[in-house]
Amino acid sequence: MRHLMSPLDFSVEELERLFDLAGDIEAHRGKYAHACAGKKLATCFYEPSTRTRLSFEAAMLNLGGSVIGFSDAASSSASKGESVSDTIRVISCFADICAMRHPKEGAPKVAAERSSIPVINAGDGGHQHPTQTLTDLLTIRSLKGRLDHFTIGLCGDLKFGRTVHSLINALSRYEGIRFIFISPRELMVPDYVTEMLNEKNIPYEEVIRLESIMHRLDMLYMTRVQKERFFNEEDYVRLKDFYILDRAKMELAGPDMLVLHPLPRVNEIAVEVDEDPRAAYFRQVQYGVYVRMALILTLLDIHVH
Ligand code: NCD
Repeated sequence: MRHLMSPLDFSVEELERLFDLAGDIEAHRGKYAHACAGKKLATCFYEPSTRTRLSFEAAMLNLGGSVIGFSDAASSSASKGESVSDTIRVISCFADICAMRHPKEGAPKVAAERSSIPVINAGDGGHQHPTQTLTDLLTIRSLKGRLDHFTIGLCGDLKFGRTVHSLINALSRYEGIRFIFISPRELMVPDYVTEMLNEKNIPYEEVIRLESIMHRLDMLYMTRVQKERFFNEEDYVRLKDFYILDRAKMELAGPDMLVLHPLPRVNEIAVEVDEDPRAAYFRQVQYGVYVRMALILTLLDIHVH
C-alpha cells in the first residue's frame, strides 16, 4: 500500500506515468466516469480549505466514487481529544482512501503509519503540500511541454508557504532548473531548503525587487502571505501587500512567461492580470482535478483500459 506524503515519494518516472494518466483523463473523461464505482474517499480536514477539499471531492465524484468527511477540526472527534492515529483507524473502516489536511507538520505521516488505507497529505502546516505540487507540475508540463531547463521565480511568502517548499523539492530533480526567490527579508525560504539546493549544486538567487528580474523568468509562481502562520498581526499587515503583480509589471516580462498561483489570491495579483493570456492560475485549478483523479486511481491501483 502506498501513501503520498511528499512529492518525492514518487520517482520522476512514476510522475511521468501519473501525468500521462492525467492527460488521458483530460482527453477521455467518459472512459473514467465509473472507474471508482463503489469506492469512498474520506476528506479529513483539520484546517480550513475549500479548493483543495473540493478538488479532491470533485475528482472522486468524476471517477464515479463517493465522498465522506469533515471540513474542520471542531466538527471532528479531535475536538473531543481523539488522536489522528485513532481517527485514521476508524476512517479505515469507512473509506478506501483518505485525504488529510492538518495544521501540525507531520500529522498525516503519523496517520499513514497507522492506516490500512492509502493516506494523501493534503497540506501539513507550513511543511508540504504534495498534491498542489503535482498540480503545479502538470500545469507546467501541459503548458510548456517540459519540466526541465527553465528559470522559475517564486515570489511572496517563501518562509511559510508550504506549496513553495514542496515545489522547490520536486523541481530540484529536473535538469537545468534555476530558481529566483523573490521575497522580503522576513519571508525568505528556510535554510533547510537553500542547504538542499547548495548540496545538489542547483543555482538560485534571492532578490527583493520583482521588477528587476521579470524579464529573466520563464515562469512566475506568486503566493499569498500566509496570515494564519504569523505570530503577530503587525508583521502581517506590514508585509501583506509587499508584492502586487499588475499589468505594468507584466509588461516587463517575456511573451511566454506563465504566471502560476496556488490560490487563494488576496492582493498579490491585481484582477486586471487575469485577462492576460500568460495568467495560468485558473487553468491550474482544472489541472488539479485531473491530477487528483490520476492520483486516486494510482493509489487504489485501479487500471482503466
Ligand atoms: C495553498 C495552501 O493551502 O497551502 N492553497 C491551496 O492548497 N489551494 C496555498 C495558500 O493557502 O496560500
